[in-house]
Amino acid sequence: MSPIASVLFGREDIRRRIEELGRAITGDYEGRAPVLVSVLKGGSVFLADLIREIRLPISIDYMSISRYGGATESMGRVRIVKDLDQDVGGRDVLVVEDIVDTGLTLSYLISVLESRRPTTIEVCALLDKSVRRIAPLEIRYRGFECPDVFVVGYGLDFDERYRNIPDILAVQDLSVLIADPDALTPFVTGGAPAGPADLGAERSESQVVGPVGEGYSRFEP
Ligand code: IMP
Ligand code: MG
Repeated sequence: MSPIASVLFGREDIRRRIEELGRAITGDYEGRAPVLVSVLKGGSVFLADLIREIRLPISIDYMSISRYGGATESMGRVRIVKDLDQDVGGRDVLVVEDIVDTGLTLSYLISVLESRRPTTIEVCALLDKSVRRIAPLEIRYRGFECPDVFVVGYGLDFDERYRNIPDILAVQDLSVLIADPDALTPFVTGGAPAGPADLGAERSESQVVGPVGEGYSRFEP
């Protein structure tokens, strides 16, 4: 029996990659005080870990966007639900995203932010599902290249569930999850079955298993 989901990027891999991203950002923005803008809610987990790896006098702000779509599809039609608290005019803005899929959400957001005349605007995304890109985008800082699978965990949700799973899971068969949205609850509570889908507390490396893992590639800076 194949597992419903498997670990694509484990917590230790994520931690190490964020350390590298933080170091790169610290070097590139030396002498400046960028404002990191996170897109609620998925990006908040990544932002929380990333800022603690940046040795600069940064500030953070949040934006919330609503998408008109279902539980898994991003449609690109967006509306600002919560705007920034700060004026980003004349600031160095770094937009922090959990995942860039079609790029429609982010390209809309960037056009909104650009109209406010920041000095610079760059993107830092943990996951880049580049094969699905519709709107061309430059991602200056990228954690991992992501295969074309639905992922949950580490801030990423399925219908508002699973954001608190510490690893990033690839969902093998989305139709199973759609039929039973609570199917991955054992990954949250720690009772995931043994085998490829196991999330043992002692796990320190991501383990790429099954058909999803084959052919995924990691971004090399
Ligand atoms: P885009 O506009 O297609 O780039 O959509 C980006 C947003 O869609 C992300 O910020 C996520 O909230 C959501 N998203 C895209 N792919 C996934 C996924 O595999 N799992 C969970 N959320 C996703
Ligand atoms: Mg989402």
